[in-house]
Amino acid sequence: MPSIQACLFDLDGVIVDTARFHYIAWREMARDLGFDLTQEENERLKGISRMESLEIVLSIGGVQLPEEEKIRRAAAKNARYLELCMQMTPDDALPGVRPFLDELKQQGIRSGLGSASKNARVILERINMLHYFDTIVDGNRITKGKPDPQVFLMGASDLQVAPQHCAVFEDAVAGIQSAKAAGMLAVGVGEASVLAEADIVIPGFEGFDLAQSENA
Ligand code: BG6
Ligand code: MG
Repeated sequence: MPSIQACLFDLDGVIVDTARFHYIAWREMARDLGFDLTQEENERLKGISRMESLEIVLSIGGVQLPEEEKIRRAAAKNARYLELCMQMTPDDALPGVRPFLDELKQQGIRSGLGSASKNARVILERINMLHYFDTIVDGNRITKGKPDPQVFLMGASDLQVAPQHCAVFEDAVAGIQSAKAAGMLAVGVGEASVLAEADIVIPGFEGFDLAQSENA
């Protein structure tokens, strides 16, 4: 496997556990519309843009809304999500993430963020981690969401590293597909049963050694 010169990180569920806040906010909206959203159904929303997620949630509930109501609901969900996110502190970064990013810096490996979220900068500022990233590709920059490879190809291009020398860290099925489509090493963060398409799957960053897994 070619040596890794850049690491691209998804945000929600990889750097910080905001996935639970997305779930709470979507579930509240669903209940308000008269149906429930299970954790399993929520899995389908990971890595997917806000408006696409809204469409999926509405289809789960069999609810149809006029366009302007969809926009209003998405904005209300986002306001609620941000309200929940404001509970976070720098301690909310997932275990092992900061030491891993420090380690990469020491090794001269560049780091970038590749997220579908339009709130990526706000969240990173909230947990005081904005400075770790040499580039940020977020939902405000991309025109094609995951599983399209655009988000990670843009990150690689910003960092001037060829895709085959990039590793992607992702907790979402759509994100793993995006990394594979970009021709990058796809590291799943989570459960192997869910992230079956990843090259390797780790439960989290604690004790993770990139060099070791490259040689595996
Ligand atoms: C992704 C999350 O990172 O960002 C999705 O996994 C979310 O669940 C998407 O829908 C868009 O986020 P935001 O913050 O722009 O609504
Ligand atoms: Mg994610």
